[in-house]
Amino acid sequence: MRPELAPSVLSFDFADLASPVRDLVAAGADWIHLDVMDGVFVPPITFGAKLASDLKDAVPEARFEAHLMTVDPERHFEAFVAAGCERVIFQVEATAHAHRLAQTLRGMGVQAGVALNPGTPVSAVEALLDAADLVLVMTVNPGWGGQSFLPSVLPKISRVRELAPKLAIQVDGGVDPTTLPLARSAGANVFVAGSFLLSRPSIGEALRELRSACAG
Ligand code: DX5
Ligand code: ZN
Repeated sequence: MRPELAPSVLSFDFADLASPVRDLVAAGADWIHLDVMDGVFVPPITFGAKLASDLKDAVPEARFEAHLMTVDPERHFEAFVAAGCERVIFQVEATAHAHRLAQTLRGMGVQAGVALNPGTPVSAVEALLDAADLVLVMTVNPGWGGQSFLPSVLPKISRVRELAPKLAIQVDGGVDPTTLPLARSAGANVFVAGSFLLSRPSIGEALRELRSACAG
């Protein structure tokens, strides 16, 4: 499956996110990954749907996805879809009704993504694979950027790929040109990177390195 890059804005200066989003789009990002944290599901708080809407107004050509690291994710669906997000990813651990939530998102005309934390077994999403458009296999524990990639998660990626040969499988956390190929060989095809983007002189250079790591 075609590899896609979904860079996260989490590590950029929140005082001006429109500029890096413009640069990411210009550098060929397929998606812009918005890390929404509510201070309950994970300790930090980041931002809400208004930021997504303002960024969509500022950079209309960008495709936004919202990664909801929140409790009661369904409470936020309408606001992020109205803000212009084309994919909404919720944490399977945050609800007893993941199948229904995935159906709800599809009913709203957006792609449904289900994320699983490093400690959550693949069995938690096995029954969702027909209702979801993407499974996000977290390669760090959610809440912070700049953490190290957890290689112990790689077999989970392979298991999801085995169960769903055509499904989009995303990885998120500690992704860089060294870890991306590991995730790709395990079966992932959508790659989120955050802090790596600031480790190079330009966003363009960082994205070029990630893109060539996809081809490896
Ligand atoms: C962490 C977020 C990730 C994070 C990735 O909870 O879900 O998207 O921004 O950042 P890095 O690439 O720095 O691990
Ligand atoms: Zn994320």
